[in-house]
Amino acid sequence: MPLVTSKEMFAKAYDGGYAIGAFNVNNMEIIQGITEAGAELNAPLILQVSKGARAYANRTYLKKLVEAAVIETGLPICLHLDHGDSFELCKSCVDDGFTSVMIDQSGKPFEENIAVTKQVVEYAHAHGVVVEAELGTLAGIEDEVSHAVGSYTRPEEVEEFVTRTGVDSLAIAIGTSHGAYKFKPEQCTVNEDGILVPPPLRFDILKEVSRRLPGFPIVLHGSSSVPQEFVKLINEHGGNMPNAIGVPESQLREAAKLSVCKINIDSDLRLAMTASIRQYFDEHPEAFDPRAYLKPARENIKKMVMHKIVDVLGCDGKA
Ligand code: G3H
Ligand code: 13P
Ligand code: ZN
Repeated sequence: MPLVTSKEMFAKAYDGGYAIGAFNVNNMEIIQGITEAGAELNAPLILQVSKGARAYANRTYLKKLVEAAVIETGLPICLHLDHGDSFELCKSCVDDGFTSVMIDQSGKPFEENIAVTKQVVEYAHAHGVVVEAELGTLAGIEDEVSHAVGSYTRPEEVEEFVTRTGVDSLAIAIGTSHGAYKFKPEQCTVNEDGILVPPPLRFDILKEVSRRLPGFPIVLHGSSSVPQEFVKLINEHGGNMPNAIGVPESQLREAAKLSVCKINIDSDLRLAMTASIRQYFDEHPEAFDPRAYLKPARENIKKMVMHKIVDVLGCDGKA
């Protein structure tokens, strides 16, 4: 099976009340961990490459590694550009054979966002590629664009944006943010087990957006849950990640049952990999064969992604 677009994945996910995981990839072990999880659970996958990842690995390697994963697993896999910041970058990924691109002009004024998104849609659609855009800004870092504070998506803007751009899916801001420090402890409450509970996502905004765009796929960025077992392992083995907090998985499961068809996860992959490698080096100070520490790291990613597919996204068996 060749790489696929997310069109059919999203249509089925919308109707089925589940979401597709969009996992960021940077190297072979990450791609293998994610796709081995997908293969074991027969789950469709979106593998996404950021501008930074493409600069790190170069434009050929990640594409070829993802193609290898398609051959090995036979899964429907969509290759997506994450946070494309210009028409030129989106065009380059379309020309390289990506099946989906995101044009992120969410930090720009509404009319500018529409104009650039429309230009990308025209080029991408002419080449059979789908396009994601964004309205509203997430707090934290959006690739190379930094927003100290986010601003929620304004539901009254979404119909005009989607109609005028012709975009295929829309990322919205409802309280998620990028990275491993999504909430400050003072924003959280403490539950009976002493665990910090972040403020709930703005489901009112999500529902209003969906009411205005019936049947239209919505995307959530910044959706890592920052598993505390990884943070603990990292901190126990020489790391220093105080107060790392993510989005509770129960909230994401709820969103997946609604119109959210794509859930972006990067930080949890980084944490799974880092926790495993830190632990390995701590316990095997003599180790220097990269295979020795990358193998358990890849296995840890696979285990984490399997958990996401079953317990958060609900897309197991949907390939
Ligand atoms: O949303 C950003 C993603 O986590 C990608 O991060 O630009 O460091 O590759 P990156
Ligand atoms: P996290 O940092 O929460 O994993 O978000 C990833 C993301 O949105 C990639 O676009
Ligand atoms: Zn993102």
